[in-house]
Amino acid sequence: MQTPFNLGRYLALAMLALCTATAQAKNEPVAPAVKLANIRILATGGTIAGTGATSTTTVGYAAAKVGVDQLIEAVPVLKQVANITGEQLFQVASENMTDEYWLKLAKRVNTLLAQDDVDGIVITHGTDTLEETAYFLNLVVKSRKPVVLVGAMRPSTAMSADGPFNIYNGVVLAASPEAAGKGVLVCLNDQINAARDVTKASTATLDTFRAPELGLIGYMQNNKPHFYRLSARKHTVDAEFDISNLETLPKVDIVYGYANVTRAPVDALVAAGAKGLIHAGVGDGSLHNAVKPALIEARKQGVIVVRGSRTGNGIVARNGEANDDELDSVVSDTLNPQKARILLMLALIKTHQTSDIQRMFYTY
Ligand code: SIN
Repeated sequence: MQTPFNLGRYLALAMLALCTATAQAKNEPVAPAVKLANIRILATGGTIAGTGATSTTTVGYAAAKVGVDQLIEAVPVLKQVANITGEQLFQVASENMTDEYWLKLAKRVNTLLAQDDVDGIVITHGTDTLEETAYFLNLVVKSRKPVVLVGAMRPSTAMSADGPFNIYNGVVLAASPEAAGKGVLVCLNDQINAARDVTKASTATLDTFRAPELGLIGYMQNNKPHFYRLSARKHTVDAEFDISNLETLPKVDIVYGYANVTRAPVDALVAAGAKGLIHAGVGDGSLHNAVKPALIEARKQGVIVVRGSRTGNGIVARNGEANDDELDSVVSDTLNPQKARILLMLALIKTHQTSDIQRMFYTY
């Protein structure tokens, strides 16, 4: 049976063909025939929202100036890959990140991901503490839907600013069903990293986000993610931490190991009310003779001590360079000190038992 000629449908198809041809001619991604995912962009500041005096200013610019609407407008092709909505959650340079901002962000992410009309979230963030925010969310987000953090090393006003393409890749990744259930992801410079393992490894280069020994988990190429491996540690829906009723987090600080170090920082932080201390020791988490007595006293006062390593890579061996059973300390496993601090904060909302906290460090 012949279908009657439908002028409306004919015109719609002709328009679609024209748009597709135009997009192909411009080398832009072609809108897929499937329903677009609903992606919310949560903007928090950083260099990605920074402005400099000239197009060659890449140092000495002002971070956290451009609003979320402008960030979205700078990448018109986003409309073709997802239904985008934006929200300015806060506007800070990420060196000023606080527990309060983290709790606000995590609660908003959990609220949004519980909605049927949100399929994934992209968070624009300063790169300085991006790895910390990503790991915090990795432990407290209660959803398998994609959460992707993006940032930029060049301000939005720079020639070859990296922000727009990082936002584009972040949205493509968050809209991809393949990204679901993989934990919180970090996507810059065409690379996908797991929140637990990635770190900012260079002060200024575009390829600064690396997981030096454990490795990235995938690439963005040609408008899609390509995954090769996963972080083996538990995250998101499998993590045991609930921040939904919290207004503050336990105070946990970091002390650094180095030649000729004194016990003064440990004593000062304990006096200031630290509930936990990460010791970023030399090598395999070794403790200087001058600091060890201070840590023993801190533990006697109820402070939880985690032996980490300033090397940033490798396993800190339990009962290796110190007798953790005797000290009643915990080892950080492979977490760098700034991430060990986050896990200890979350652990302390649940327990003060060092055996349980050690289990958590081997789980997350
Ligand atoms: C920041 O972390 O907010 C400033 C640095 C950056 O985003 O690259």
